[in-house]
Amino acid sequence: MGRPHANSFERYDSRDLWQKDKDHYIHPWPAFEEAEKGCLVIAESDGAYVYDVDGKRYLDGIAGMWCVNVGYANEEMVQAMADQARRLAYYSPFSDTTTAPGAELAAKLAEIAPETLNRVFFSTGGSTANDTAIRIIHYYNHRRGRPEKKHIISLEDAYHGSTFLSISLDGKADDRSAFHYVDDIVHRISAPNRYRRPAGSTLEEFCDLLIAELEAKILEIGPERVACFFAEPILGAGGVIVPPPGYHRRALEVCHRYDVLYVSDEVVTGFGRLGHYFASQDVFDVVPDVISCAKGLTSGYAPLGATLFSDEIFDVVSIPSKNAPLSHGFTYSGHPVSCAAALKSIELLARDGILENVREVGPYFEKQLANLLDLPLVGDVRGSHFMMCIENVANKQTKELLSYEANVGQRIADECEKRGLMVRPVGHLNILSPPLILTRDQVDFCVDVLRESIVATSDGLLREGLWQG
Ligand SMILES: Cc1ncc(COP(=O)(O)O)c(C=O)c1O
Repeated sequence: MGRPHANSFERYDSRDLWQKDKDHYIHPWPAFEEAEKGCLVIAESDGAYVYDVDGKRYLDGIAGMWCVNVGYANEEMVQAMADQARRLAYYSPFSDTTTAPGAELAAKLAEIAPETLNRVFFSTGGSTANDTAIRIIHYYNHRRGRPEKKHIISLEDAYHGSTFLSISLDGKADDRSAFHYVDDIVHRISAPNRYRRPAGSTLEEFCDLLIAELEAKILEIGPERVACFFAEPILGAGGVIVPPPGYHRRALEVCHRYDVLYVSDEVVTGFGRLGHYFASQDVFDVVPDVISCAKGLTSGYAPLGATLFSDEIFDVVSIPSKNAPLSHGFTYSGHPVSCAAALKSIELLARDGILENVREVGPYFEKQLANLLDLPLVGDVRGSHFMMCIENVANKQTKELLSYEANVGQRIADECEKRGLMVRPVGHLNILSPPLILTRDQVDFCVDVLRESIVATSDGLLREGLWQG
């Protein structure tokens, strides 16, 4: 495959862009320790590939940020968005006006979501979708005459976003540092991390422990004060943690026993990453009370979040109230261009066999990546379909980690980048979440490059005395 726009790179002044970015752009999770190096400027794209400003091609093993599900530069996506922008770029979603793509998308989501989740609140991304879940659950309990039922249980190693409220749910230790968090109503329990489960325990025993911990936490807080339990079907940024079999179903049963709502954060797992529109019911056999989604909803072509609520919740929150209106929403809730992108992306996932591709190529991706386990640095390869992770360790027996200075995830990602592959470093981990159109040949390229890059990294670490081998 050639460059998408053969001569277009000449129009970029790569040095100038690099400098402007370095001087003025504060990035999410900025890499200040690498400030001198600055950022790689990505300029063009095509299918599963992106190109930097100098025209070098990379297979995008991370789909931007878990989101470009239908692949880059899809002409139908571009057309759908352009058509909508030309017709009506924006109109207020507040109170009593709507737009055609907003109405169509809400109905489409209700159609493809699990059974009773028929009501949709639009926001601008995953964080605001999760904030929306909490705010409306609080409102629901208030309207049921239970204003004290506001506490939330989330998981260690969870990632639910970066707004004040959503980051307060996060369980990643590194993110819980120098800021203020909403701690008075948020509680955390253990992550369902099989790789680091108590030595000698079976998956069943581990699952029993986790479920007992959830129930104990509800009882400790008091069921009358617990509003909801938040969980990603597979924890994403926390390290692609796949819970033991039956975990979600049993967690939901415990929640419902105590009148606690179950919120499934499908910001990453939604829209095909595991081969289905939603993973909750089709993969994990649960019908949550609330699902939040974003990212793959529009395949990353435009920002959009959506929170899906059960009819039961809607029936309570929709009772008119003069004293306590449902005061929540955003200027760009249900933005028409974003909704048009989402409608087209959802259509393509089915029409072009993209969901099927994940179900077909996903197990091959898992199997090929698992071959990397023969490398001394690779402690675990885990995940499902197009949501995978490599855990690098200093010692495979003890699972001990390398030092912070070794910066192993970043080193491997840098080696991959040199060889034309994007993977995501998160501490000692490397995460893979490619566009859902990935082919078997591209899987092979990905795994070959990873192998070379891990070997090169191991050699470097040994040479520098940062790893004993
Ligand atoms: C599971 C999950 N929830 C929520 C979010 C936050 O989404 P956003 O960055 O769109 O606000 C993310 C982002 O990575 C995520 O992985």
